[in-house]
Amino acid sequence: MQPTEQPTKTESLKVAVVGTGYVGMGTAVMLASLGHQVVGIDIDQNKIEMLRRGELPIYEPGLEDLLRASQERLRWTGDYASAIPDADVIFICVGTPPLPSGQPNLRYVAEAAQSVARNLNGKLQVVVNKSTVPVGTGDWVSRILEDHALDYSAGRYVVVSNPEFLREGTALHDSLYPDRIVLGSSSPEGIERLRQLYQPLLEQTFTPPEGMPRPANYTLPELVTTSLSSAEMIKYAANAFLALKISFANEIAGLCECVDADIEQVTHGIGCDQRIGHRFLSAGAGWGGSCFGKDTAALINTGSEYGYTMPILRAAVEVNQRQRHLVISKLQRHLHRLQGKRVAVLGMAFKPNTDDLRDAPAHDCIARLMDLGAKVTVHDPVAMPHARREWAHLTYDEAPTAEAALRGADAVILMTEWDEYRALDWDQAVRTMRRRLIIDTRNVLQQLPQHSTVEQVGRTTLHNVPGNEVLAEALA
Ligand SMILES: NC(=O)c1ccc[n+]([C@@H]2O[C@H](COP(=O)([O-])OP(=O)(O)OC[C@H]3O[C@@H](n4cnc5c(N)ncnc54)[C@H](O)[C@@H]3O)[C@@H](O)[C@H]2O)c1
Repeated sequence: MQPTEQPTKTESLKVAVVGTGYVGMGTAVMLASLGHQVVGIDIDQNKIEMLRRGELPIYEPGLEDLLRASQERLRWTGDYASAIPDADVIFICVGTPPLPSGQPNLRYVAEAAQSVARNLNGKLQVVVNKSTVPVGTGDWVSRILEDHALDYSAGRYVVVSNPEFLREGTALHDSLYPDRIVLGSSSPEGIERLRQLYQPLLEQTFTPPEGMPRPANYTLPELVTTSLSSAEMIKYAANAFLALKISFANEIAGLCECVDADIEQVTHGIGCDQRIGHRFLSAGAGWGGSCFGKDTAALINTGSEYGYTMPILRAAVEVNQRQRHLVISKLQRHLHRLQGKRVAVLGMAFKPNTDDLRDAPAHDCIARLMDLGAKVTVHDPVAMPHARREWAHLTYDEAPTAEAALRGADAVILMTEWDEYRALDWDQAVRTMRRRLIIDTRNVLQQLPQHSTVEQVGRTTLHNVPGNEVLAEALA
C-alpha cells in the first residue's frame, strides 16, 4: 500500500517519555512532531536543564531542527508527579547496560517503573517498554506497577512492549519511516491506544519535516501485534541477526585475504540475491555501539538460563572480537614494534553521524596501541568532547582536523567512516606523514594516495609504487 499524501486530523494524546537518551529523545521529539503533547522525564538534572535551554544532550542529525519545530508540544522535567498522572501513554526508555555476566542491568527499568507506578492516576494508562529488555520483563514490570501503585486494580494499567529499531545517526528518519511497528501485549485496549498514537506513522498522514522527505519508494509500515514475550524476543532476534550478518561478512573477508579475492566484490555479488540483500553485509572493524554487543550477550545469557546453547550467536561474537584484534595485526605487519611509533586514529564514535562511544571499536584500538607503547593522536568530527569524559582512562592527543592528526604519523587507522574522511584530500594529507601507511578498517578509500600502502579489510594489501619510504618532507 502506498502512503497517502493527504493530511488527516489525528487525535492528540498526552505522552510521558521516561529517559531522555538516544531513544527517549528521538521518541519524544518524533511524537511531538506528529502532534502529541509530550513531556520528557530524566533523573539527570543536567540533561533536563540543557533541554529546557533548547540544547541537545546528544548529537543526532536533524534532531535540533525538529525539536525547535515541535517546541510548543514538548516539555522537560525531573519530576514524575508533574508528568505521569496526566499521561495517556508512558514510555520507558531508560538504559539497560550490560552487567559483567552479560545480563542487562534492569535496575533503571525497575526504578523507572516504580516511580511511574507511584504516580499513576487510577484511570486507564498504558505503560510502554521501549527499552530493550529480556523476555519476561514486561510481566515483571506489570508486577512492579501492581506492587507500587497507590491504587492498583487489575486492567487499569496495561503494559505493552514496543521495541525500538532506530539506528543512531538516522534515528529520526527511522522513526518517521519505519519498516514495521511491533506492539506486544495481552491487552486489546493497550494495543488500540498505541495504534491511535502511531496512526500518523501507520498511515503516513503527517507532513514530512523539512530536510527529511518521505522516501520515494516507501510503503506503509506493517503493524505487528504479538504477545508481550514475542515482542521482546523480536527485538533481540533482529539485533542478533544483524550482528550475525556483519560477522558473516567479516569471516568471509578473512578468507578473501587468504585467497586473493575482494570482499567488496563478493558482498556485492551475494547481496544482489534478494534473499540476502546488501544491507549489514559490510566487512570492517566489527560491530560496536550500545546495542549489538549487549543484546547478543543478553540473548546468549537468556539461553543459558534455560540450559539452551546458542552456538551460532557465540560464533558471531567470537568473530567480532577477532576482527577488532585484526586492526592492530595489520599495523604490526608493517610497523612491527609499535613502541614510540606515532599512530593517527580517525574516528572514535562507533559509527558516523553520532557521538555515541559505547563499545566503539576505536576504544579497543586506542587501548591496545597504548599497551604496545605507541603514541596516539585522534580526531573525530563530533565525539572528541564526549570522549574527554568517557575515555579519560585512555592516553592520546587530540588533533583539530584529520590533516593535523596525520602530520608526522607512522600510520593512520581509519576507524569510523565519517563522510569527512571520505572527502579528505588523501593525496595531500598523506604527504605530511612520516610513513604513508593507511589501515582503512572501513574500506572507505576508493583510490590509493601516492606512494602509500593501504590495508583494507577483506582485500590484499595495496601498494602505490614506488613504495612507502620515509619521506623527507614529513619531518619538516
Ligand atoms: N541507542 C540506540 O540506538 C538504541 C536503539 C534501540 C533500542 N535501544 C534501547 O533503548 C534503551 C535506551 O537506550 P539509550 O541509548 O537511549 O540509553 P541512554 O543511556 O542514552 O539513555 C537513558 C536515559 O535514561 C535516564 N534514566 C535512567 N534511569 C532513569 C529513571 N529512573 N528515570 C528517568 N530517567 C532515567 C538516563 O539518565 C539517560 O538519560 C536501551 O534499552 C537500549 O538497549 C537503544
